[in-house]
Amino acid sequence: MWLKGFISNHVNMKLLKTCVILLLLTVLFFTLRNMNLLQVRTGIIGNTLKPLSSAEAEEERLILDSIAWPETPPLPAPFSLNQTSNAAHSTFTILPGGVGDERHVGDQLEVMIKMYDFQGNPKKSGGDAIVTRLHNRALEAGVAGRVVDHLNGSYSAVFPLLWEGSVTLVHSSEAITVLRRLNREHPDRTILKSLFRSGSISETTICNICLRKTNQPQCNYTDLRTGDPWFCYKPKELSCDTRMNHINGGMRSTAIEMMYLVLHVMTINKVGKSGLSGYYYQGVWRSLGGTKVHQFNNSSAISQCLKGKVVHMYGDSTIRQWFEYLDRLGPFMIWDNAKNILVKFRFHGPPLSISVLIPTSELRYIANEIDDVVGGTNTVVIFGIWAHLTPFPMQFYIRRLYGIRRAVIRLLNRAPDTLVVIRTPNLRGTNPYIFTFNDWYAIQQDKVVRAVFKGLNVQLLDAWEMVLAHHLPHYVHPPPPIIKNMVNIILSHMCPQ
Ligand SMILES: *[C@@H]1O[C@H](CO)[C@@H](O)[C@H](O)[C@H]1NC(C)=O
Ligand SMILES: *[C@@H]1O[C@H](CO)[C@@H](O)[C@H](O)[C@H]1NC(C)=O
Ligand SMILES: *[C@@H]1O[C@H](CO)[C@@H](O)[C@H](O)[C@H]1NC(C)=O
Ligand SMILES: *[C@@H]1O[C@H](CO)[C@@H](O)[C@H](O)[C@H]1NC(C)=O
Ligand SMILES: *[C@@H]1O[C@H](CO)[C@@H](O)[C@H](O)[C@H]1NC(C)=O
Repeated sequence: MWLKGFISNHVNMKLLKTCVILLLLTVLFFTLRNMNLLQVRTGIIGNTLKPLSSAEAEEERLILDSIAWPETPPLPAPFSLNQTSNAAHSTFTILPGGVGDERHVGDQLEVMIKMYDFQGNPKKSGGDAIVTRLHNRALEAGVAGRVVDHLNGSYSAVFPLLWEGSVTLVHSSEAITVLRRLNREHPDRTILKSLFRSGSISETTICNICLRKTNQPQCNYTDLRTGDPWFCYKPKELSCDTRMNHINGGMRSTAIEMMYLVLHVMTINKVGKSGLSGYYYQGVWRSLGGTKVHQFNNSSAISQCLKGKVVHMYGDSTIRQWFEYLDRLGPFMIWDNAKNILVKFRFHGPPLSISVLIPTSELRYIANEIDDVVGGTNTVVIFGIWAHLTPFPMQFYIRRLYGIRRAVIRLLNRAPDTLVVIRTPNLRGTNPYIFTFNDWYAIQQDKVVRAVFKGLNVQLLDAWEMVLAHHLPHYVHPPPPIIKNMVNIILSHMCPQ
């Protein structure tokens, strides 16, 4: 058994029961930054999405079914938190199991979570977004749990090991009512722009995957190869060909419902037990099944592994973290002529809500980039795309992944030995723009990525579990100890020992 040797063979349930329960409650209120409502005609997105083949359309239906979220309560009017889920009033109990009070390492531990509202009444419906983990700080050990929604206000979480545990209510079911509506009706609440310039004339206009119809003509930058939609309002005096860059113009609070978006984060620490795609022990991620993870502890071990390799990284800043990790190790880690090492990073195509200005020439779709890779034994293609696509309907995300999957299949056909690593989304925790960038969207994206790339000869890097299981707070950019573990997994795939 993989746990033997670092944890006692069984645990006294009395110890479990006497452990202190710690509750943390964070409530975030959102203020309306402006009431400049932009009414997006429902269905306008549908018009700009590329049609799918019947097989892909059927698959999309199955994927959407698989992420279908339980019905969430309607929003109370007038505004009140009274009947919404409240972490502080909620409880959980460890269900009986095993022989007597003893549990053996490797047993499953089931925890029943009961949600209550702010007035202390039990919730009768499901749909709260809850994540669970077990961890032990002394052992630097941690693992994620699986949550089942019983749709009646109770949830169970199942863990296979034995550490301290925590349950986090990521979003109340009422908040999800709001989040669900925002992506359907306000996919343009991230403000994206481009600067157009020719000679001394310049003008900045709004861009997105679809634009509201106005008298202003639109420039259509839909990618001819992948079909990914992109539009900007045409500048008054300049042609569509004069687009210079891609700019993040911040966020727009779009709906009066924003006032109802109240999020609670609850952490209950209690002894329990847990194991899934992996777990942390002594701060090191151990995979369950798949490639054994080796520790590349110093730059000579890493450059030895990278020798002769070309590594292409595509995606967002969560992928760039890996590039930066290697870059920081030394100037010769990402480009070394003598050792024949080349590691490259490129951002994925729009939409991108990043603070740096991206020249038009740097706007590249991952699918097109992969099509330009020759591939082979010494080629590694790594990508991750999720964080910037959360404000949009899931169909848009699925189509983007389909385009990338077609390119991956073409790559693996022409060069079957190419290593392809796909990073899953991760929890991002609370942030000022939680109505746009939040964990409920990421929970669903995570399932979609796994479904779309299932069955292909690719390696999934389970950022979801690696962030959830770690004791450090959830953040869109996982902190250095998690990044080191992630890079070790990639290097272990590249250089199995
Ligand atoms: C919420 O509960 C408080 C205290 O129980 C009560 O005073 C208040 O009127 C309730 N608000 C609404 C909108 O029901
Ligand atoms: C909710 O459903 C679960 C699973 O069916 C059941 O075990 C539990 O007792 C139910 N809770 C309530 C309060 O009805
Ligand atoms: C935009 O261009 C693409 C590719 O040429 C085309 O398929 C699509 O119909 C155009 N969309 C609009 C709204 O003009
Ligand atoms: C890497 O470092 C860790 C902790 O410092 C150590 O336990 C492990 O044995 C080292 N691995 C190798 C391959 O040197
Ligand atoms: C680097 O790590 C490798 C294996 O992890 C080890 O064999 C080697 O001695 C280490 N080199 C240095 C300079 O620490």
